[in-house]
Amino acid sequence: MKDLDKRVILEEKDGKSIRSFVLRGGRLTNLQERALQNYYDDYVIEFSRNILDFEKIFENKNPVIIEIGFGMGESTAEIAAKFPDNNYLGIEVFLAGVGRLLHDIHDRGLKNLRIIRFNAVDVLQEMISGQSVAGFHIFFPDPWPKKKHHKRRLLQAEFFKLLSRKLKPEGYIYCVTDWTPYAEWIIDEARKVSELVNSSENGYCKPVSWRPITKFESKGITKKHSIHEIWLEISGIPRP
Ligand SMILES: C[S@@+](CC[C@H](N)C(=O)[O-])C[C@H]1O[C@@H](n2cnc3c(N)ncnc32)[C@H](O)[C@@H]1O
Repeated sequence: MKDLDKRVILEEKDGKSIRSFVLRGGRLTNLQERALQNYYDDYVIEFSRNILDFEKIFENKNPVIIEIGFGMGESTAEIAAKFPDNNYLGIEVFLAGVGRLLHDIHDRGLKNLRIIRFNAVDVLQEMISGQSVAGFHIFFPDPWPKKKHHKRRLLQAEFFKLLSRKLKPEGYIYCVTDWTPYAEWIIDEARKVSELVNSSENGYCKPVSWRPITKFESKGITKKHSIHEIWLEISGIPRP
């Protein structure tokens, strides 16, 4: 298990991309540790500098949706179970979260969900081909509230440009946050990207009915934070 824990950190040393996360440590529960030992090789794709072949990985041509920063992944598994005709790729660096989601994938028998444990910026740049992704989900990204840390925010114009290049012409980006200044920042940064359209009045879309409440969302609700949902499209296709 020690080796797994170090893998992201070692590879990151050479990376030049945004470090939008702090690698959370902490003890693994027995369930997470067992899942990492038993199912890692079945569902985790190792970081590499080779473009992924989605058709080969999922053994079908269904649309692929990428979730960035799934945390513990409960809502990731829930969405994948709800939409068996979509494929899902979850990217997260947090080992305990990967363990937890591996457990859920196995427990629910999900055939349409895989994981990559690495910095999403590098994964997108190196492993995902252009115009191949149907949608991106980014739920409760780390808000980095202090001004001196804003440069570490994942959702900024450059990153949106990268996502846009990977999206199919009818693709979407769906972001949710409970940190109002970050929500306003997301809308402003997306506006700088000419390929993206935000057709919601005031920039915020209505709550999307199929999205389960995430772990960080529950924490935000306890603190009485408002939830802001932002839906961006490449070509203005109406959201579901
Ligand atoms: C605030 S948590 C939200 C987790 C989950 N989406 C939820 O709503 O409960 C943000 C997560 O994004 C992950 N993360 C942040 N930047 C990342 C990156 N560049 N690549 C992969 N994961 C990242 C962090 O490790 C963290 O688990």
